[in-house]
Order: sequence, then C-alpha cells, then structure tokens
Amino acid sequence: MRHSQRATRGKSARMSAYRYSAIALLLIAASGCASSQSSSPNVDLRAEEGGTTVAQATAKGLRGAERVGFILDKMTTAEKLGQLNQMAGGRQIALNSRITDAERDRVRTGGVGSYLHVAGAEFLGDLQHVAVEDSRNGIPLLFAMDVVHGYRTIFPVPLGIAATFDVDDAELAARVAAVEASAAGLHWTFAPMVDIARDARWGRIVEGAGEEPFLGSAMARAQVHGYQVEDLKRPDTIIATAKHFGAYGAGTGGRDYDSADISERTLMDVYLPPFRAAAEEGAASFMVAFNDIGGVPTTANKALVNGLLRGQWDYDGLIVSDWNSVPELLNHGVAETRSEAGALALLASVDMEMTSGIYAADMLEAVEASPALEAALDAATKRVLMAKDRLGLFDAPYAYHDPAREAAAMLTPDHRAAARHVAERSMVLLRNDAGMLPLKPQPGKVAVIGALAGDARSMIGSWKAQGREEDVVTVVEALRKRLGEEFVVYEPGAGTRDVADPAAIAKAVAAAEAADVVLLITGEDYNMSGEARSRSDIGLPVPQKALAEAILATGKPVVTVLMTGRPLDISPLDSDDASILLAWFPGVEAGPAIINVLFGDAVPAGRLPASFPRRSGQSPYFIGHNPTGRPADADLSKDSARYMDIPITPAYAFGHGLSYATFEYTNLRLSSDTLAPDDTVSIGVDITNTSMTNADEVVQLYTRDPVAQVARPQQELRGFARVHIDAGKTKHVTFTLRPEQFAYFAPSARFEADAGRIDFAIGAGAADIRLAGSFQVTGHVIADGPAAAIATPVSISEE
Ligand code: NOJ
Repeated sequence: MRHSQRATRGKSARMSAYRYSAIALLLIAASGCASSQSSSPNVDLRAEEGGTTVAQATAKGLRGAERVGFILDKMTTAEKLGQLNQMAGGRQIALNSRITDAERDRVRTGGVGSYLHVAGAEFLGDLQHVAVEDSRNGIPLLFAMDVVHGYRTIFPVPLGIAATFDVDDAELAARVAAVEASAAGLHWTFAPMVDIARDARWGRIVEGAGEEPFLGSAMARAQVHGYQVEDLKRPDTIIATAKHFGAYGAGTGGRDYDSADISERTLMDVYLPPFRAAAEEGAASFMVAFNDIGGVPTTANKALVNGLLRGQWDYDGLIVSDWNSVPELLNHGVAETRSEAGALALLASVDMEMTSGIYAADMLEAVEASPALEAALDAATKRVLMAKDRLGLFDAPYAYHDPAREAAAMLTPDHRAAARHVAERSMVLLRNDAGMLPLKPQPGKVAVIGALAGDARSMIGSWKAQGREEDVVTVVEALRKRLGEEFVVYEPGAGTRDVADPAAIAKAVAAAEAADVVLLITGEDYNMSGEARSRSDIGLPVPQKALAEAILATGKPVVTVLMTGRPLDISPLDSDDASILLAWFPGVEAGPAIINVLFGDAVPAGRLPASFPRRSGQSPYFIGHNPTGRPADADLSKDSARYMDIPITPAYAFGHGLSYATFEYTNLRLSSDTLAPDDTVSIGVDITNTSMTNADEVVQLYTRDPVAQVARPQQELRGFARVHIDAGKTKHVTFTLRPEQFAYFAPSARFEADAGRIDFAIGAGAADIRLAGSFQVTGHVIADGPAAAIATPVSISEE
C-alpha cells in the first residue's frame, strides 16, 4: 500500500506518559543453493570489482530502489533464490541452535536471506558480519522471531490486549516489544496476527483480536504502528507482519490448518478487513496462511495474493510463507513435485519461503527454463532487498547489534509498569452478582485455590518469546505481598489438566472452609490454546471443573479469576451469586495486575472481543450473524434458527464487561437524519458516571443495514471508545460515520452501500444497548475497500 491512513486514537495523557517513557528510554539507546558461484566465498571476485556488490552500489551514491536495482542486476539466479530463503536458525525453545559452521558457509555463498528463531545482539551481529563482509554481494540478513505479545517483558496475550478496547494499549505493547526485540538483534516480527476468529474451538483465537473485523482492524493498525512507528530506519523499530493472510481463522470445525469453505462475501467483509487496515498502516510484511479457501491453499492463491493483495490493494511489502507451507502444497494435492509447489508459491508472489529451503534447493532449473518464473523471482528478490533497505541495513547493517543497548533494554521498570497497566486494563469483569468485588482492603484470611494461581509459565501465555518464568509475579506471590503471609493460604487443589485427585481437592476444600474469602483461580493453562491447540470441548478441563464444583459447594464467599486464551463454556462457575473476573494470560505482571483489580486499585473495564458460548456446541457464535428467514426465537414452539436445548443468546456476548462503577447513557444526538454520499453523520451521546468510583467506560456503537441486496449482519461494531469518567461526571462521546462504512461486498463484486435506512445502537456491550436510532443514506455509494477496515473518528469532551 503506498498510502497510509491512520486511525483516530483517543490519546489520554496517562497513556502518552507511558509511551513517552518507554520510547525515550530506549531511543538512546543448505545445502540446496547449488550454483556455479555458490561453492566459494568469492573473496577474489569481490576484491577485483572493488568490494561487495552492496559496497559498489553504495560507493556509486545509489540509494533506495536504485541501489536495490544495481544489486539485483549483479546477482546470479542462485543468489536471488538464496535471498528468498528463510532458514530456522534454531528452535523456539533453543534459539540459534542451528547456526553451525555449515550454516555460516551458506551465508557466505549467498544461500540464505533470513533466519528465524534466532536472537542476541552479539551473536546475530557476528552472523551479520559474515553476510556483509564474507559474501560476494554483501547483502545483510534479516533476523526474525515471533514476538507476539512482548519479547522479554511479556504483556497479556493478544486476545487480552484486544479486550482493553484501547488502541493505545495495543500500540504500547507492540512498541515495548519492538524496543526489546530490536535491541536483541531482531529486525522482523511475525505479528500482529489479525485473523478474525469466530469459533472458540480454534486454539489460535488467543493470538488475535477476536470476532469483529472492525475491532480487529483497529488493533491491527495500532500494533503495526507500535512495531514500525512509520520509520523502519530507526534502530528500535521492527518490521510487522500481518498474518495469516486469507481466512486462516475460518478453518472448518475450529480445527487448526483446516479448509475454510467460506463465501467470497464473508472473505471480503469479515476476514480481510484487518489485513486491509494493516496494509494501509504500512505493515512491511504479510504472511500467507497454511490453509485453503475453497480448495485453493493461500500459499498458492495467485488470485488472492498476487491479484487482490498486490494488484487491487497495491501492496508492495514482503510476503513470507508460513512454516513449510510451500512443500505442504503437495499434501494439499495441488502440486506433484517440490519444484511445482515452489513455482505455484512464487507465481502467487510469496517472496520468502520459510524453513523448507524449497526455493533455494529445488527451483533453479525451473526458473532458468521459465521467463514467467524468472520475472517472479526478480520481483520477489527486489521486495526482499527493499525490505532490507527500508530497515536501513545497507547503510547500517549492525544497527541492531549493540550488546550494551540489549543489556539496558530488557524488562526495565518502565516496561514492567507498561505490562501491568495493559494487564489491568485487559481484565473483564464477567459478573459481580453479589457485589463481592472489589474486595475489602482487609478481607481476613484468604484461601487461594487452583494450580494456575502459582503457575508462572501459564501467566505468560503460549508465545512467550524470551519471557522467563522467573520474571513473573504470580497471583499467590502478589497477594502474599499485599496482605502478609499469615493471611494467605495456597492450595493448588488439582492439576491444570490431568485427572482430578480427590485428596488434593479435599485439602483445597478444607482450606476454603477455614478462610474468610476464597479466590478460585481456574481455567485453561497456557498450553491449551495457541497453534494446534483446537479443542472439541471448550468447557473447563476435567480437574478444574471438579475442583471448582467442590469449592463452590462449600458455600463460602468465592471470587473466581478465570485464566484462558479462548472463550470457554464456564457454566459450572456461573451461579446466580457469582463474581468472575476474566484475566486471560496477563503476562509478567500477572499477579500485581490481578490483585490490583480485585482490590479496586484498578477498576475493570475490559470487554469481550469474542462471545462466550453457553456450550461448546454453540460454537461458532458471533454477533455478526446474518438474520435468517426464521431468525432465532426465544419461543421454542416456533421453528427458528436455534438449538432446542439452550437459550438463543450466548453466555456473554461480544463487548460485555462490567465495572465497579455505573454509567448512564443519555442525550442521544444525531447531526442529521440523512447521510449523503461524500458527507458524514455524527452520533453523540452523554455518558455519566453515576457511582462514587472513578472508572473507564467502553462506549460501543453498533450498526445494522435492515434492507440490502443481501442479508446483512444483525450487529456490526462500527465505533468504540474507552473513556475515563470521574465519579459523578459526564463526558460527551461523538462518533462520525461516512456512507462507505455501510458498504458490503455486493453481488456486483464491488463494495456497495445502498440508499436506505441504517439502524444504530449505542451501549456498553452488544447485548447491553442503551440508546438507538436510525438515519437514511440518501444515495448509492461504491467504496474502494471493506467497510470494517475504515476507522471511525471519535471525539470525547468534558461537560
Ligand atoms: C507457524 C505459525 O503459523 C506462524 O504464525 C509463525 O509465525 C511461524 N510458525 C513461525 O514460528
């Protein structure tokens, strides 16, 4: 995308302070590449021509695309294929372990363009020296890692970050991650994951922003900005990757890697908007998904990747395959040989191939025999080189390799404070029926029950990058620190996943009975969501359920803290007098953040980015469902689109989240009853904090097009604002919309908004609507992209 469109962000002074301190502080801061030229380091050749190819280009005063063009002209086919080759330099749990002497030789011969699963300023600096000084062309390497919710300072998992409903929080988490990762020698993260996830059985729901494309688009923009800050030449920025392009989240049955058999309309209106938003924000890289859409694996989807992304969207960034997804085209049954698979991917304009080495090892002959492949190879190599140029690596190849900067950057007090801040804001108060929360400052003796309460590993979630268990403050530790050892008893009661042990449960029950208050910390552990972690039953794990039932049966006052990476069926916890705080996997500051929220030092205002179904069998459940000819009806005597055995609503709908404060919505104002093409309409509302507690409210705007050429979703998020309102005070919140925001992928295969009525509703959640109205769009509009990718400006003013 060559233009950029920034989201409107309500920046509070508090957030700016966090961002400023975080940034200011750290600103100081194969074998298979056979070719005639690949067998020797080419030192002599370099000397003859006056230095490496990069040095020659630079000496000629060439910069940017001109320098890249010069380098490209001098490269052999094998060297070009080498640039497209991304190898695993280690494993997630053993970084750098595969960087052997043979690997260094591969670098010398130009057989590799990038490594992933590597880290360390000094280690990678040494490797960079090999590329820059010992190879014929002197092209620097790109070092990459999955830095998803923090590098060393681990923030809440992405679904938790999305639950903040605050783009500043998402940006802050990405910024801190970039500061640390770049200091550790990394140029490139495989984040943000912007896949829409509507089926909670899919384990990777934890990595994204949930079910609604408008929220997903906002979070995508914010994270891209946090990683890249519109200036990749700054040594504390890293390339962001919008992944996994296509419809990875739509796998059948919520199974990872599985086929997405979805309509083109759903693809365009639901799954692609966050990618569009990321591209508009300038995400310098995209990753294609493992899975197929209607039989076409995205890794080989020429129409979608080359046609739509490169062509219609004008995206000129670096596209990387997923791990082994090119050879997996054989498993999909769309290629017979490795070189055929490579050709399909290259022609789809997948520039860099992750880990299998197929481009470098199997494509030389095919490319030499095919002008089309040769052209695709040149284009791909150019994009890889341009990515290196955008990072400034041709001029400053060692800018990311300063060990002193690395030592100073990790887990600073500012970074910890930022992680705690975002964690507190990510928490969602699901219910507080008996008003048990916030806890009294001196609640008496507290029994902390549940293995997750002391499980440091689970606190940091599945993508932990360089997060360490010893950095984590657990719930038990934080509570002991706050109340004193003598007031806290800890009983794990049951393992997180194994079979329930009646003796351990009995001990936990005894501890609960002897306490004044019980904190039950339950849910899934970190390893039950994430990649390849799909579950058919998204209830509480068996021992957790047994433990919860035994503890709740004591009749003691119980506050439940739910840890999870996905929406769960929490019916065993959902009694009428329950108090349930959803904490996700909160990161290194998990304990203090949870305790601060429980005691009211921080007032919860997180909201659900994905609906919680009542039962596993209700998945997928999402608010953006189309109405049917027989819409779901609470009355079972009518034949309608519902299950017989559960109510038609979810347990907790998208956008749900309570507070310790109460808010009143009044004075709905519409700037006009009509919205003409090229015009805007503003919807304003007053929000009053009617309680004695200063708190945030998340004001949400939903819209619906009641009559269109095709059925339109029952609810679509089109605006949100997390607003801090002091007790007794009122704030005015105004959303401004334009007609393109009601466009949809019409039968004409264009994005059209019809003339006619638009209904809107404002509230504190999709199922908590306070005010509603409508206006008329007066003319037909053709939009140039998906509606959900368009940001809605919000203005907030005081009384
Ligand atoms: C596979 C995952 O699908 C992708 O998200 C990740 O970036 C790569 N592995 C690299 O670890």
